Amino acid sequence: MLEKIRVIANSCKDNIARTSSLEELNEFRVRTLGRKGEITRLLRGLKELNAEERLAVGKAANELKENLEKMIALRNEEISIQQMEIQLLNEKIDVTLPGLPGQRGGKHPLTLISEEIRDIFCGMGFSIAEGPEIESDYYNFEALNMWRDHPARDMQDTFYINDDIVLRTHTSPVQVRTMEKMAPQTPVKIIVPGKVYRKDDDATHSPMFTQVEGLVIDKAITFGNLKGTLIMFAQKIFGEDVRVRYRPSFFPFTEPSAEMDISCVMCKGAGCRVCSHTGWLEILGAGMVNPRVLKYGGYDPEAVSGFAFGMGVERIAMLKYGINDLRLFFDNDKRFLQQF
Ligand code: DAH
Repeated sequence: MLEKIRVIANSCKDNIARTSSLEELNEFRVRTLGRKGEITRLLRGLKELNAEERLAVGKAANELKENLEKMIALRNEEISIQQMEIQLLNEKIDVTLPGLPGQRGGKHPLTLISEEIRDIFCGMGFSIAEGPEIESDYYNFEALNMWRDHPARDMQDTFYINDDIVLRTHTSPVQVRTMEKMAPQTPVKIIVPGKVYRKDDDATHSPMFTQVEGLVIDKAITFGNLKGTLIMFAQKIFGEDVRVRYRPSFFPFTEPSAEMDISCVMCKGAGCRVCSHTGWLEILGAGMVNPRVLKYGGYDPEAVSGFAFGMGVERIAMLKYGINDLRLFFDNDKRFLQQF
């Protein structure tokens, strides 16, 4: 018996060395160690031996089994490495082929327009200021000359978090926040791009939208400065031939106040559906900073004056790109977004 085991061991060693694939090796394993394999049968036959023989043969057979398992594992690794090397040798990589282009994202149309607006004003010497979107009633209304129960508050359908905290309804609160930081230094020359929130939702209103605010404070700032700056802006963003007009308006934080219209970008002023056949499109509110607001910000209205303006970025993007539904900006439809 022991002799038989020795013979099997030797032949197994040769057989394992001769296997050249993982399949072959596996077949060999089944033939020897499998349920009906040679070694398995040998071990089962032990019970026919007498106790003394059983001890010796059993030990040898078990050793053989363990050795075989080790050898098979080793060979398995050898073959795997060989196969990988062959694969690597045969694999031809053409490093001169052009790469596969990954999917690249792009900028959102509102980001593009915001950046364009920023660039225009930065080119005129403005810098950028920011403020919180969760704002106090004080900065959003009070310091802008809209005290509690002021009728002008009705125009801004406000999300109240509690009696004193709101989601800002416009970027104007950053006016007073900036003044507080700067006063009494001049000049102040900032724009404030940012998200604002109102309880509104239809084709031309969204509960979240984007504004750009502007504020200039210096000695002897006049309405002429306001007009010149905003005409320049309109021509830069809508083209040199755009015409501009101002209409008197009311905002509690400016005095006097105005709204600026541009000649309709669709019909060039002839009258069409977009401009409700008036030839004009309203694009922003503006005015001379109310002396009360200057005071809230820490400036002496006798010593300095200023102008301010605020515009909706979605509206400008809609006019510039000819988009008729504001909700498209927020639907995340790639077919829409890919066009910009
Ligand atoms: N904050 C105003 C609004 O959202 C827009 C505005 C009008 C801003 C006139 C100004 C301004 O700075 O002077 O309706």
